[in-house]
Amino acid sequence: SKGTYDHYMLKEIDEQPNVMRKISQNYIKNDGSLNVETALLDEMKKADRLYIVAAGTSYHAGLVGKNIFERIADIPVDVELGSEFGYHMPKLSKHPFFIFLSQSGETADSRQVLVKVNEMNLPSLTMTNVPNSTLSREATFTMELLAGPEIAVASTKAYTAQIAVESVLAKALGEVKDLKVAHEFNLKEQLALAANGIQTIVDEKDKIKALTADYLTDQSDAFYIGRGIDYALSLEAALKLKEISYIHAEGFAAGELKHGTIALIEKDTPVIAYINDGAGASHTRGNIQEVEARGAHVLVIASQKYAEPGDQIIIPEIDELISPIISVVPAQLIAYYASLARGNDVDKPRNLAKSVTVE
Ligand code: M6R
Repeated sequence: SKGTYDHYMLKEIDEQPNVMRKISQNYIKNDGSLNVETALLDEMKKADRLYIVAAGTSYHAGLVGKNIFERIADIPVDVELGSEFGYHMPKLSKHPFFIFLSQSGETADSRQVLVKVNEMNLPSLTMTNVPNSTLSREATFTMELLAGPEIAVASTKAYTAQIAVESVLAKALGEVKDLKVAHEFNLKEQLALAANGIQTIVDEKDKIKALTADYLTDQSDAFYIGRGIDYALSLEAALKLKEISYIHAEGFAAGELKHGTIALIEKDTPVIAYINDGAGASHTRGNIQEVEARGAHVLVIASQKYAEPGDQIIIPEIDELISPIISVVPAQLIAYYASLARGNDVDKPRNLAKSVTVE
């Protein structure tokens, strides 16, 4: 039930600190070792490439996961949209391993890929919130997201749970490969930072509501920009805004703006810039100046480490690899408040269903 909440979406946003704690408790044992099936790790150890297959928000969680697996488990990763990949399958690596990311476990676009993967006798894992779902039953292995039922059509806690569970698996795989970087990645501490950091942001709801009214409610277009991990995040931030507020939004690699899209910037065009990625920070600052010079109304969401005076939202400390777990939350709240202010049905946006069981 919604309890005291007007909408499931806000309830589910608020549940995210608890989801982080639950994932930590379930996947990290008291002695620090990880609760991940040995057979799964044995299979993954043989792989030379991971193929993450998903749709929508889960695809965006996969883009973040690529960074995590490549750094912590030292394995190349392709992230694929089920609807594209299934019918235009590229030449696969010699020893592929497939990871299906799906909140519902019922997404037809992902399932048709799994059917083909099974026909080829290739190993697979489904990461899902619904353990007895179709994708879970048909894959070789399953890992649970442990986010609890997600009712709002706009996915929130499943995204943050997916990034957390991807981190668990990446660390487990890196450890069986005896990689220093995996042993050193302090997952327990990071998930605690994630829980506390999300809490800090959800406690700033009133401020984020006011910023949303100031920047977005009356606008018809908006841009989210960032580099590296923030680029992956900006795609999810834009989807969330489109889906429930019906404001046209795009997520952009900050450096790509000047290759065309900057022509769309007019006086007061909202540009929300993310600065959590160290390697991209100074260049994104430059892009902010470029759009401001053309009249954009810029809202900056920056990590503590890279924040400058005047930045509107500060993201508490966390390893930047998993920073989207915290930095997505302002975008979830912005979408929520924009949808609410525009009188939309927040939990059931037009034209959409919670799980998409047709291709
Ligand atoms: O259940 P799944 O994770 O497979 O669903 C995938 C997408 O349909 C889903 O994430 C969709 O994009 C959400 N409504 C976004 O908020």
